[in-house]
Amino acid sequence: MKHHIIGAEQFVEEEGQGAPVILLHGFPLDHRMWASQVQALAANYRVITPDLRGMGQSDVPVTNISINQYADDILTLMDKMDIQKAALGGFSMGGYVAFALLRKAPSRFTSLILANTRPEADGAEARKNRMNMAVSLYDKGAAAAKDAMLPKLLTEQTRKDQPGLVESLSLVMESMAAEGLVHASLAMAFREDATDLLSTISVPTLVIAGEHDAIAPPDVMKKMADQISGSSFQVIPAASHLTPMENPEAFNALLIEFLKNATA
Ligand code: MLT
Repeated sequence: MKHHIIGAEQFVEEEGQGAPVILLHGFPLDHRMWASQVQALAANYRVITPDLRGMGQSDVPVTNISINQYADDILTLMDKMDIQKAALGGFSMGGYVAFALLRKAPSRFTSLILANTRPEADGAEARKNRMNMAVSLYDKGAAAAKDAMLPKLLTEQTRKDQPGLVESLSLVMESMAAEGLVHASLAMAFREDATDLLSTISVPTLVIAGEHDAIAPPDVMKKMADQISGSSFQVIPAASHLTPMENPEAFNALLIEFLKNATA
């Protein structure tokens, strides 16, 4: 496992050799959410899992940051790591960054995985919730995001059956810098709508939903997949939002099969 610090601000983990696969984490998480996918792919791919700025081990920005700037960071990282083209996967907030990347530099991505994400921008109510989250983060620290998100990330059954997963996930979320999460909340609140981008996507695309995901519900994701020509839409049963960690076996099987065909 290699660790890199790009431009003294961005932390990234790299494992394995082969065609590059970049996986972008969600909120309020970091590259560790992909541990099981890294393990499954590293025998055949160069798997790159960055921490978005302000999250995980990446520095907290001193001025506000947008989803477009997170995307610029990924392009900088690709240049610094000598990666001309890569397969790109985005989970939830990571999907919002993936949309921005496809707008900015479509020729640099050979295939796309969209997990538990949605193309629409936030409406007024969702923005207000993000503002409230930002205030809670200042009041209570990263625990505010953990408390709000944990019940939405995993099904009630999984939380009951897998206390170890709940524990490690809680540790990841509690380790975040509160202000980094404030930046992320505001960046998501004011992100661009990506609906018009969908019909322009021409690379092989895999769309993965969780059966019980209330943040990116399967019907919303199916509608999104229908607008991406030739995409494959898959639902992971008995899973909520955090499908890569909640059911890594099912998630990895889809991922491996897709990448095998997409990078052939
Ligand atoms: C995420 O999992 O990244 C967030 O739930 C996305 C969001 O809040 O829109």
